[in-house]
Amino acid sequence: MIDRAHVLDRLNEIVDPKSGQGLAAAGLVQGLALSASRAGFMIEVGAGDIALYEPVRLAAETLLAALPGIERAQVVLTSQADPAPYTPPEGAVRVRRGARLSDEAKAGMTPARPPSKGENPAHVKHIVAIASAKGGVGKSTAAVSLACAFRHLGWTVGLLDADIYGPSAPRMLGSDADPKVNADKKLEPIAAFGLKTMSIGFIVDEGAPMIWRGPMASSALNQLIHDVAWGSAEAPLDILIIDLPPGTGDIQLTLAQKLSLDGAVLISTPQEIALIDVRRGAVMFQKTGVAILGVIENMAYFVDPSTGEKVPIFGEGGARRTADDLGTPFLGEVPIDIALRQACDDGRPLVATDPQHPISQRFIAMAETLAARLNAKP
Ligand SMILES: Nc1ncnc2c1ncn2[C@@H]1O[C@H](COP(=O)(O)OP(=O)(O)OP(=O)(O)O)[C@@H](O)[C@H]1O
Ligand SMILES: [Mg+2]
Repeated sequence: MIDRAHVLDRLNEIVDPKSGQGLAAAGLVQGLALSASRAGFMIEVGAGDIALYEPVRLAAETLLAALPGIERAQVVLTSQADPAPYTPPEGAVRVRRGARLSDEAKAGMTPARPPSKGENPAHVKHIVAIASAKGGVGKSTAAVSLACAFRHLGWTVGLLDADIYGPSAPRMLGSDADPKVNADKKLEPIAAFGLKTMSIGFIVDEGAPMIWRGPMASSALNQLIHDVAWGSAEAPLDILIIDLPPGTGDIQLTLAQKLSLDGAVLISTPQEIALIDVRRGAVMFQKTGVAILGVIENMAYFVDPSTGEKVPIFGEGGARRTADDLGTPFLGEVPIDIALRQACDDGRPLVATDPQHPISQRFIAMAETLAARLNAKP
């Protein structure tokens, strides 16, 4: 890998037009990311200075690209002001590891501020986010499966992949299409398996967002929500399913604050360690006034193919208990299933390609329950 100090040294050959110092010395090299063949960083300047710094950005990118071994260089210019930091309301519930919520704590979880009344994209009837505080528990799998399940029920469905740092929709839907811009200057969502979908993965190079800081990722997410032609007056979208990245960070807060979500569905695996994160996620959504529509227990068990017996690999029934504990509906369990994993990896969602499969049937039943909770028909 190329030497970091050497790269910073070289970047100092470019002069910051404002301070007259070298770029690195002026503190303008942010989030420098170096790998064997890629280099990139971000320049953050005042909103009025974008034009002034565009030649600087270009010079820096050219310099990086010319470094030995570097095949791809990217320098991003941004003028994002940091959004106001999230301060939990007074008396916010902190959930300790393994803690069960007391009645007092639960009472404290009623929204401390009124539900977010952000502006939703035009012609979208319902918006539901799929979330978990922990990574790798099957959010994207559930988001794609539920989206296809709603489609199966006759809804017009959008799927927004809000995982800016690790998009998965292109892979799970087997598409690498380039979105087109329509006459209204909005991006047309990509059509796949009857869904309208959008992901940062359709727009920028894989790896590019890795060097984005929180405010930039939030602004990219804003564009995925508002600069996409999700629905029109003639063809409104019945539901937009949002596949969230793991955690309770900037992206989740941007969503909770900027949109009027119908609610969130929390995904968990059964073991205690994962459930602590479910509680964390639930507290965050409830504090920001977003309803929890239900909890799904994923990877609930594995059916031993030789005996047909259920093997509870990660323990049993924890998500159901946590849902009860939080006073939110339990939507159902999804076992570990090879066909489901294979379908995700192949980019052919199981629910769309084989709706009669027992796993597909479970997701369809969950979509029906959610539809009832949303009190809506397509
Ligand atoms: N019920 C299941 N049975 C078998 N494999 C599953 C199941 N659910 C998810 N997987 C597999 O587990 C992996 C992680 O799932 P997925 O990408 O949906 O998780 P995630 O929560 O979205 O992860 P991240 O936090 O990274 O966004 C994938 O390979 C997926 O195919
Ligand atoms: Mg995911």
